[in-house]
Parts: sequence; C-alpha cells; structure tokens
Amino acid sequence: MASSPFNVLFALFTILGITAVASATDCNPLENTTCPADNALSTEHTWWLNSTLDSELWDMETGTADYTSTGADFSIKTENASTLLVSNFYIFFGVMETHVKMSPGRGIISSVILQSDDEDEIDWEWVGYNTSSVQSNFFGKGNTTTSDRGAFHNVANADTEYHNYTSYWDKERLEWWIDGEKVRTVNYSEPTTLYGKNYPQTPCRVKASIWPVGLPSASVGNIEWGGGLVNWDDLPFTMSIQRIRVKDFSSGKEYEYEGTSGSYDSIKIVDGNSTAKAEIEKTPAKTLAEKWNDLGEGAHIGVYCGAAAAGGLLVALFSWWCIRQRQQGRLARALNDGNHGEELASMEKSQNQWAQSRWGRQSYQPVP
Ligand SMILES: *[C@@H]1O[C@H](CO)[C@@H](O)[C@H](O)[C@H]1NC(C)=O
Ligand SMILES: *[C@@H]1O[C@H](CO)[C@@H](O)[C@H](O)[C@H]1NC(C)=O
Ligand SMILES: *[C@@H]1O[C@H](CO)[C@@H](O)[C@H](O)[C@H]1NC(C)=O
Ligand SMILES: *[C@@H]1O[C@H](CO)[C@@H](O)[C@H](O)[C@H]1NC(C)=O
Ligand SMILES: *[C@@H]1O[C@H](CO)[C@@H](O)[C@H](O)[C@H]1NC(C)=O
Ligand SMILES: *[C@@H]1O[C@H](CO)[C@@H](O)[C@H](O)[C@H]1NC(C)=O
Ligand SMILES: *[C@@H]1O[C@H](CO)[C@@H](O)[C@H](O)[C@H]1NC(C)=O
Ligand SMILES: *[C@@H]1O[C@H](CO)[C@@H](O)[C@H](O)[C@H]1NC(C)=O
Repeated sequence: MASSPFNVLFALFTILGITAVASATDCNPLENTTCPADNALSTEHTWWLNSTLDSELWDMETGTADYTSTGADFSIKTENASTLLVSNFYIFFGVMETHVKMSPGRGIISSVILQSDDEDEIDWEWVGYNTSSVQSNFFGKGNTTTSDRGAFHNVANADTEYHNYTSYWDKERLEWWIDGEKVRTVNYSEPTTLYGKNYPQTPCRVKASIWPVGLPSASVGNIEWGGGLVNWDDLPFTMSIQRIRVKDFSSGKEYEYEGTSGSYDSIKIVDGNSTAKAEIEKTPAKTLAEKWNDLGEGAHIGVYCGAAAAGGLLVALFSWWCIRQRQQGRLARALNDGNHGEELASMEKSQNQWAQSRWGRQSYQPVP
C-alpha cells in the first residue's frame, strides 16, 4: 500500500507545483550515464544535532531545523509544509544509527533513510497515528510496484523518548536494530529482493524528513497507510533527531556508476581522499578553555605569574593615577582660589576649539 516516502514526497511537490531545489546529484545514473560521481564519506562519524550541522556536509533542502540542547527539531509549522535534510556524502555499504523522537499526528510521516541515486532505499519510517511503532522498509531501483517489504516493530513512547534505530547494510544482508536489539534481517537473495535484483546495493546518502502523507491529493493507499487525513488544527508537528552516526564500509574519493545495471559490481570506487572526510577531520576552531588546557602546567604557572605581575603593575599605576588626580584637584582648587579662573576657562575653550576643528576636519573629508 505505501510507496517509497521520497517518491511520494516528490510526487507531492509535483502536484503542489513546488519545485524542490535539485541538488547536483539528483540525477538517476540508470537513466543518464553522465551523472556526476558520488562523494564518498570514507570514514565513520557521529553528528550531534545540538549544534548547527556543517553545511559542507549536509543540506537543508526543504524547511528548517531548530537546534536545541538535546537535538534538532524538524517541524511542519504550516499546512502542507515538510522538511528535508540530505547529506552530500554517500556510503557504499555501512551503518546508519539515528536517535529519533517521531512526530505524533495522523497522516504525518517521520523518516530517516538511506537512499541512492538510482533509488535503492533502506528506511526507518514512523507513522504519526501510532506512537508505539516504527516501520522498517527497503526498495531496490525505485521499484514500488508492491509493498510487501515493510514491517512494523514495537517501540514504547517513540514520540517522547529518543530510541536508537540502526541499519546495518552490507553485500550479504540488511539488518534493522532498535535499542541494541536486532528486529529484522533481509538477505541479499530472497523472494522480496527478487533474489538480489531489488536488494539495495548502490551508494546511499542519508535523508531525514517529516512530511504529510494524509493529504486529499494523496492516493487512497497512502492516506490509509498514514492513518487518515492530517488534522491541521494540531500544528505544529515535530520530529526530533538527537544524533546520526554514519559509517562507510568503503573508502576512496568517489563512487561511480559504470553502466546502467545498478548492481554493486558496477560501482567503481575512485581512489583518493574523500573531501567529506577531510572536512570532518579539519581541526575545529578551539575554544578559549581548550586552548588553555592545551598549554600545560608549566605554561599555566607562567601565565598566573604574569597575571600577578600585571596585577601588581596595575595596582602601582592606579595608585600613581590617584595621587596625580588628587594633586591636580589640589592645583585646580589653588588656581581657582588664587583667581586664576580665566586661565582655566581659556584652556577649556582651546580644548573645545581643538575638538571642533577635529570633527570639522573629519566631516570635510572627501568621500573616497
Ligand atoms: C544528465 O546529467 C547531466 C549532469 O547532471 C545533465 O547535465 C543532463 O542534462 C542530464 N541529461 C538528461 C537527459 O537527463
Ligand atoms: C552536544 O552533545 C554532545 C554529546 O552529549 C556534547 O559532547 C557536546 O558538547 C554538545 N555540544 C553542544 C554545543 O552543546
Ligand atoms: C518490481 O517488483 C515486482 C515485485 O515486487 C516485480 O514483479 C517486478 O518485476 C519488479 N519490476 C522490475 C522492473 O524489476
Ligand atoms: C501500533 O503499532 C504496534 C506495533 O506495530 C501494534 O502492535 C499496535 O496494534 C498499533 N496500534 C495501533 C493503534 O494501530
Ligand atoms: C545503537 O545500536 C547499535 C546496534 O545495536 C549499536 O551498535 C550502537 O552501539 C548503539 N548505540 C548506542 C549509543 O548505544
Ligand atoms: C538469511 O540468511 C541466514 C544465513 O546467512 C539464514 O539463517 C536466514 O534464515 C536467512 N533469512 C531469510 C529471511 O532468508
Ligand atoms: C494543501 O494541499 C491540498 C492538496 O492535497 C490542497 O487542496 C490545499 O489547498 C493545500 N493547502 C494549502 C494551504 O496550500
Ligand atoms: C591524501 O592524503 C594523504 C594524507 O593526508 C596525502 O599524503 C596524499 O597526498 C593525499 N592524496 C591525494 C591524491 O590528494
């Protein structure tokens, strides 16, 4: 009954006349042999979504993420809106672990998936009307003619607690794990994979989205899958992601399709350094506290002594200034007392003139 959420999302955009910003890699290599190669992740990394994601590695293609101290909120705030976060790196087999709080709400889908350019897909999908369930699913080469691949799994309080949803993916098998427990395995060669033909096997990137399936324009099957039409009085709908760990089992610079079979042995791993890996390993700008810790004990003592010396110097300077102020005060009083007021007045006047001429000069500066 349910078709791939991202195909639906695309169809939806088409129906609603919304043009999603196409990324450089929105090109199906089975239909177009000149698609650009896929950037390899080529490493393992965990992104905590308590601070803004590196825009070199992630694109917020639709909507916005609201970062909080515990994770990022992806919300539908207005009727028919959706959000879509996409990684611009790919893994060629690997692991994707995400800690998510699904959005409740009839007709609302929360999802975190792996998807390839020729539409292989490995999915976690939460259907908003049932907050104690998650659906595992997969697709091969965009084949959505049957929906016998989805399975439902129990998760308590999926909307109010973060749970660990992990997909493990290699050439032989696909596994879905919830909170450290394996809930499903799909082997490469099974009837549901058409004995390998529709087994996901091409480089995938991560996509996370919250979107409404319960729209009058959706198919009856999809509306049913979502549990009915969205009740827009319940806005906003929010999915939260605490973190995403991604591990690439391959390493190299890029992954390239050779030919149009879409099988894993047609994927060429281009040798070289991954730009995504370099971006991840780039030393982040250090905080003051980190710089301080880096200095070591000897340096710390040195800095303390320096600060003490500087403090001493400041005390000395301050004392000198106080004494001077007192003397000047005394001098002014003495001058006033001795009827030297005119001299002081003329000094003030010349200072005012100096200040005015300074401002005057500045305002007469020609505009460069
Ligand atoms: C094939 O992909 C290239 C690169 O993305 C693009 O410029 C070209 O228009 C595409 N051709 C077709 C027929 O889709
Ligand atoms: C985000 O969470 C991680 C893990 O709890 C923590 O190490 C990191 O300091 C947090 N970052 C911010 C900006 O709060
Ligand atoms: C798509 O999958 C169905 C069964 O799930 C299968 O009968 C059909 O041949 C597949 N189509 C392609 C083009 O592989
Ligand atoms: C929610 O999903 C769980 C697990 O998939 C299932 O056992 C339960 O019956 C579902 N509840 C509703 C209200 O559909
Ligand atoms: C999440 O689950 C996966 C699979 O069981 C496991 O490898 C990983 O360590 C878990 N993550 C955490 C933070 O426990
Ligand atoms: C998958 O393969 C394993 C052995 O590698 C086997 O034990 C298991 O029954 C298979 N599962 C399915 C669903 O075919
Ligand atoms: C939302 O989409 C539906 C089509 O499913 C359309 O009828 C409705 O007018 C849209 N609402 C807004 C506010 O765009
Ligand atoms: C890849 O990185 C390594 C070490 O960082 C460097 O020695 C090597 O020259 C780089 N290779 C290319 C092709 O840039």
